[in-house]
Amino acid sequence: MSVNVRRLIKFFASSLCMFLVAVSPCFGWGPEGHRVVAMIATKHLTPEAANKLKAMVGPHDTLAAISVWADDIREENPETAPWHYIDIPLTASTLDMRRDCREGNCVVARIEKFRTELANQSANPAVRREALEFLVHFIGDLHQPLHCEDNNDQGGNHVQVIFFHAPTNLHAVWDSGILQHEKERDIQLASDLDSRITPAEKTSWVEGSVESWAMESHALAREVAYGKLPSGPTPVLEDAYYDVALPVVERQLQRAGIRLAYVLNQALHE
Ligand code: ADE
Ligand code: ZN
Ligand code: ZN
Repeated sequence: MSVNVRRLIKFFASSLCMFLVAVSPCFGWGPEGHRVVAMIATKHLTPEAANKLKAMVGPHDTLAAISVWADDIREENPETAPWHYIDIPLTASTLDMRRDCREGNCVVARIEKFRTELANQSANPAVRREALEFLVHFIGDLHQPLHCEDNNDQGGNHVQVIFFHAPTNLHAVWDSGILQHEKERDIQLASDLDSRITPAEKTSWVEGSVESWAMESHALAREVAYGKLPSGPTPVLEDAYYDVALPVVERQLQRAGIRLAYVLNQALHE
């Protein structure tokens, strides 16, 4: 094959990738973000919770391995799609469950439902296992700031941006673009982030409620994800944006990991 034909094929393949990112709705943190959250949580489980989890997931699986299942089944189960986010209006200063979470179809209500199911020792084991898989995933999604807001743009899915020369959308930048640009492998990232969590942070992060965690995420969407967007019809995001966004993404992954461990420890205590 001539060099020119090869170049042409490469050009079409990379254009197709960029096109797919630009048009497809995004599913929460990409697989890497979910695995990092699950790996951090695994390091903070009590021995009882760790044993019970091992019995539930089986000897060959880990919390990280099951953390992306909720995205894998989303297309065949479209009724689960709204469970991954809560559309709190970007300019709202409070969460209103009647306004933002119709019929319990949002990430906040689903976390509460699945944590209750997981804690119910007399429930069917298959139901508890499914509750665990949803819970691991949704506590991650809750910490992606754009999963806790809407600005009449499907959580930023309709905001076209250029991120380091690639056309994409604001939601995809926060789901996976920032972490992919960071380039550290998930196992290494989880262990680095975990080693930077102080005991005081761990204590303060488990305070509050699922609703207050959602509002904290919402504030970050407002102040950083949208607040730091350069003006213009298609904002161009490069180092200046990335340098403020990356610490926010990292902090949210740390919080999600600590809070996931806390919720699992509570649900699976003796
Ligand atoms: N679809 C509609 N709103 C959304 C949001 N906040 N996050 C992800 N997908 C959405
Ligand atoms: Zn998701
Ligand atoms: Zn998403």
